[in-house]
Amino acid sequence: MPYVQADNTGGLEKKVTVHTLKKMRGNEKFAMVSLYDAPMAAMAQKCSVEAVLIGDSLGMTVLGYDSVIPVTMEQMIYHVEAVARGNDKSLIISDLPFMTYATPEQALVNATRIMQAGAHMVKLEGSAWLVETVRMLTERGIPVCAHIGLTPQSVHKFGGFRVQGREQERADTLVEDTKLFCEAGADLLLVECVPAWLGTEITKASTIPVVGIGAGNETDAQVLVINDILGLTPQPPKFSKNFLEETGNIAGALQKYRDDVKSGQFPSSEHQFT
Ligand code: KIV
Repeated sequence: MPYVQADNTGGLEKKVTVHTLKKMRGNEKFAMVSLYDAPMAAMAQKCSVEAVLIGDSLGMTVLGYDSVIPVTMEQMIYHVEAVARGNDKSLIISDLPFMTYATPEQALVNATRIMQAGAHMVKLEGSAWLVETVRMLTERGIPVCAHIGLTPQSVHKFGGFRVQGREQERADTLVEDTKLFCEAGADLLLVECVPAWLGTEITKASTIPVVGIGAGNETDAQVLVINDILGLTPQPPKFSKNFLEETGNIAGALQKYRDDVKSGQFPSSEHQFT
């Protein structure tokens, strides 16, 4: 018997699918956690976290790199397999790492590998250049989450981890990208580090669920990295919150995060950008 098993006592009762999340939009907020291993994945299921993300943030949070750029397909696959072994109810989403989807053909090969490792959806960072790839993958049955705003794989192009869209021109582009990804068949949109007002604009412009991180309180869902939830990050970003501090145990922290997302208590103004 494996040491960690998907725990079906309590927590999510039914498998969460892309259809579930689309039905929730406008009715009920949902929570996503970026995590990387079987025990945390099992805990997320038990705490009814609807979606789990194997983020390439694992390069920084687990492997000790100073950016996500060194992360490889092999590392992503290793962690997707671990998460899928620990959780059989949440929707499992995985990043494709840096430069593994630079062309539609590369994206198809690498998204196939990630789906075969146990993911239900792939997450890709980009803007208008990525639209053709999103259309191609979704037409072939691979669900896609398009990640816009602060896209960490472009950190060197941005010149650091900076809030995006404070200038009107960039904000307009992000709203336009939202519409393009919706039209191309994307299933989810993830928007990172934009002023709260822009998070609201993007959510209004979208026809698919919008997951925010540092994007205000009006998105359809929130995502946080497990290390931030558990207070493991030495200099935590403004948008994150240490839920372990007030709860004292891991299950309590995950449950409180999920409950506060559902009720709209998280993120409060101190976790938002203007
Ligand atoms: O890599 C990751 O964990 C992410 C989240 C921060 C959204 O992309």
